[in-house]
Amino acid sequence: MKGLILCAGKGSRLYPFTHSRPKTLVPVANTPLLQFSIVKLMELGIDEIGIVIHPSQEMSIRGQFGEGEALGISISYIHQNEAKGIAHAVKQAQAYISDEPFLLLLGDNLISASLSTLKDDVELGEAQASLLLAEVKVAQDYGIVEIQDERIVSIEEKPVNPKTNLAVLGAYAFTKDIFVAIDEIQPSKRGEYEITDAIQRLNDQRKVVSYHITDQLNIDVGTIDRWLEANRKLLSSDVSMNRIHGSVKLENCAIVEPVSIEKDCVLKDCRIGPYVSVGEGSVLENCHIENSIILSRVHSKHLPFQLKNVIIGDHSIIAGVQTGNGADKP
Ligand code: G1P
Repeated sequence: MKGLILCAGKGSRLYPFTHSRPKTLVPVANTPLLQFSIVKLMELGIDEIGIVIHPSQEMSIRGQFGEGEALGISISYIHQNEAKGIAHAVKQAQAYISDEPFLLLLGDNLISASLSTLKDDVELGEAQASLLLAEVKVAQDYGIVEIQDERIVSIEEKPVNPKTNLAVLGAYAFTKDIFVAIDEIQPSKRGEYEITDAIQRLNDQRKVVSYHITDQLNIDVGTIDRWLEANRKLLSSDVSMNRIHGSVKLENCAIVEPVSIEKDCVLKDCRIGPYVSVGEGSVLENCHIENSIILSRVHSKHLPFQLKNVIIGDHSIIAGVQTGNGADKP
């Protein structure tokens, strides 16, 4: 079975951070988002992974993961030149996937639930599609399913008046039947080929669409708030994420866990945490930071205010003025 991860999106809701890097490389707990999807597939024994990218992202994503050599897997890059939706992205990968069943992940989703039941359903021939579902608060933002007698009877993309709050998360398993269904759909009102329409098509053709409902952590890291939320939740739920790299220099600092501080950082007279990630090579002095993501090589000193709920971009310099009487001015 192959894996497919979609990464071609522009990530415009994360501008300006995604001007300089693909959305799927933004770090969560100092780990590029895409790495979580790759590891998720590897945990299922999937070692052939296709990553769908926009050509402009190739250098940075390939630069990070290469062809998978370091992870002991094989990664292939597939181009999606136009942002025409998830189903369109999947279609670009048809030659790569060929006739095999495959697991599809949206590269901007962080999913905790095990995907082994989805995999088994299509691999054992029990379903042509298998979906991961969860109850969500804002159903209008998702593909929403309606279930009757334990069967999905409808699936609608971002409905204005949702029939339920049961959403399709960014993890799916499919057989090759999905490619036929994609050929039969039209673009939606937002001009995209929706994967939900292709699944509805399978359903209409009486193909089996199975589902599994999860209540475990899932976050679509699509906005600044959700990026911070993902960082906070990963730091607090995964002890291995809560770490200070051995090369970090700390002088007179109060560290309130959980935090993640990457290599070559120098921190002096700071209070850091809880829920703070500091990227590689940052130098912080006299700062009080809580629930924030500091990207790499940030220089910040003598801040007279607390940094809270913020993301500070790579190479930023933020400085207050040291007054000499203990009270610093911005
Ligand atoms: C996409 C899908 C939607 C799904 C969601 C999960 O929406 O179109 O069906 O529920 O991912 O995150 P997007 O947020 O990419 O527009």
